[in-house]
Amino acid sequence: MKISRRGVVAPFHAMEVMKAANERAAAGGDVLHMEVGQPATPAPRQAIEAAVRALRSEQLGYTEALGVPSLRSAIAGHYRARSGVAVPPERIIVTTGSSGAFLLAFLAVFDVGERMAMAEPGYPAYRNIMAALGIEPVVLPVGPEHRFQPSAELLRGLKGPLHGLLLASPANPTGTMIDATTLTALVCECAGRGLWLIVDEIYHGITYRGPAETVLALTDDAIVVNSFSKYFSMTGWRLGWMVVPERLVRPIERLAQNLFISPPAVSQAAAAAAFLAYDELDANVARYARNRALLLEGLPAAGFDRLAPADGAFYIYADVSRYTVDSQDFCRRMLAETGIAVTPGIDFDRCHGHRFVRFSFAGATADMAEAVRRLKAWAK
Ligand SMILES: Cc1ncc(COP(=O)(O)O)c(C=O)c1O
Repeated sequence: MKISRRGVVAPFHAMEVMKAANERAAAGGDVLHMEVGQPATPAPRQAIEAAVRALRSEQLGYTEALGVPSLRSAIAGHYRARSGVAVPPERIIVTTGSSGAFLLAFLAVFDVGERMAMAEPGYPAYRNIMAALGIEPVVLPVGPEHRFQPSAELLRGLKGPLHGLLLASPANPTGTMIDATTLTALVCECAGRGLWLIVDEIYHGITYRGPAETVLALTDDAIVVNSFSKYFSMTGWRLGWMVVPERLVRPIERLAQNLFISPPAVSQAAAAAAFLAYDELDANVARYARNRALLLEGLPAAGFDRLAPADGAFYIYADVSRYTVDSQDFCRRMLAETGIAVTPGIDFDRCHGHRFVRFSFAGATADMAEAVRRLKAWAK
């Protein structure tokens, strides 16, 4: 019996490195985890307390497929408080992580064989989910000369039919952000050509050179994806959301009912309280800022001196071509010889990723300092 072509998507190498790092730890070796983009902190205190209350007092059955109304309103309140943008709760859809949002969004707007453009390097699950759904990723190669972000000009240079564009700002793996002028031009380009614009805003709230502006301030026609995983430090709770144009709410509701029934109830109870925890969450961001400063200073001293600017998120994408043309082997050796787990660039860029690695600095500051110390010794 055969396995479907859909099942033959590429692995997520960061998770494979994590598996190898965990095996090393289980065998008694020490590991500094810099491979996975996961905060080292738990969910905020208010969220945990709300979850405990819900576990004790609520039935925690299925909820509405689009999410509980109080959480949808709380998310609308978040946009008002943090971005000054009014978003009707009816256009907000709670999902099983942003991963669930991508699946629903792609299914809702693209038919099999349609084509969506996205930057490379980029988050690998975009193209892997699309491949599983029979949607064709169209690569926009971006490098340091583009600050690793697409522009309207690059989009116009693409050949063949196109049905959508996916943006991420701040981006994974580079941390770079799209400036306001470029974003406005991309919104206009998409509107003019009738392209769906999907914007991954999962790293909003984690920025180092001024806040990231939501595309919702520019248009109601974009599909915006966000999550409780990163700024809210709730990866394992598997909760995200999207904001969609009104005409997409009902089709996505039907898909969500059938694919997921509802997002997890206990996580929804917890997440509503996460909006009371901005102080705790901003303290996490202050720690990421310290980690970032430590690495931006320490990595060049250890021989990693070609680094993407890291405007936001918690990643540093490093060009390691002076050491290797096989980033996967380089990461394996780094883990074996230093105990530092990082992700090979091939996860994010199939063409040039063999020359890059991604450091995640979401962990403890002491681990970052120790990583720099070990890398300096390793480089020697
Ligand atoms: C850019 C980006 N988008 C989406 C996700 C998926 O996050 P989740 O499904 O936990 O919301 C990640 C996870 O690392 C990411 O880096």
